[in-house]
Amino acid sequence: MALPRHIAIVMDGNGRWAEARGEPRTAGHRAGLEPVRATIKECSRLGIEALTIFAFSSENWRRPQAEVTTLMSLFMEALEREVAELHVNAVRVKVIGDRRQLGVRLQQRIAEAEALTAANTGLKLQVAVSYGGRWDILEATREVAKEVASGQLRAEDIDEARLSAALQLANLPDPDLFIRTGGNHRVSNFLLWNIAYAELYFSDILWPDFDAQALANALADFEQRERRFGMTGHQVSGAVSGGPSA
Ligand code: FPP
Repeated sequence: MALPRHIAIVMDGNGRWAEARGEPRTAGHRAGLEPVRATIKECSRLGIEALTIFAFSSENWRRPQAEVTTLMSLFMEALEREVAELHVNAVRVKVIGDRRQLGVRLQQRIAEAEALTAANTGLKLQVAVSYGGRWDILEATREVAKEVASGQLRAEDIDEARLSAALQLANLPDPDLFIRTGGNHRVSNFLLWNIAYAELYFSDILWPDFDAQALANALADFEQRERRFGMTGHQVSGAVSGGPSA
């Protein structure tokens, strides 16, 4: 079975899941933790190299203060409760996003979790918090611009590899499967640069209901796709049978 190397997920639908039950939206976020656990476990079991999940966007700061506070406590709680088990399972944890916006204690917990799991060789888990794809590209641009300004790099030598190396997902393969739950068909400013060739998979399932079977369905769908990277279908089948690599 052709598995993706890197899966990116927009976990949408927590609020609607809770509202449909007459519960506060925050109950949906809490319920959304279980599918996060299940997805990490399943990706580890399948030997998938990397998983990047969108937990909180740059734009989510605009939500009602109470919801933002609950989400931040939930991240804190999840870090405190789950990191030991992630470590035992050889998961390497990283947080991507503008962490300067986060509370100091949360920043400390994140740094501890990253340090503890840094040498792990299992699933590479990226949790996007206060992340936006445009922010990511802007930050990378600033970093490269500084090198140009200091004379270390010529503007004409800026290439895709240099910019990629300055992005939050540096040193990881680009996501080849992008999953969004919750019925909306949008990318919502997630990993804009890195998903240039990703297969997009949209599911109507609300995130708290996303289970191992739902992931298996997404993987089965991915397996059916023909990935062409701008080539013709004929060239791609040639590449598979030993021609130029895609
Ligand atoms: C989108 O649903 C979901 C979020 C903004 C939060 C995602 C957070 C979790 C799944 C909780 C835990 C995650 C970690 C990594 C600890 P929504 O609120 O936009 O749903 P709606 O579209 O139904 O309103």
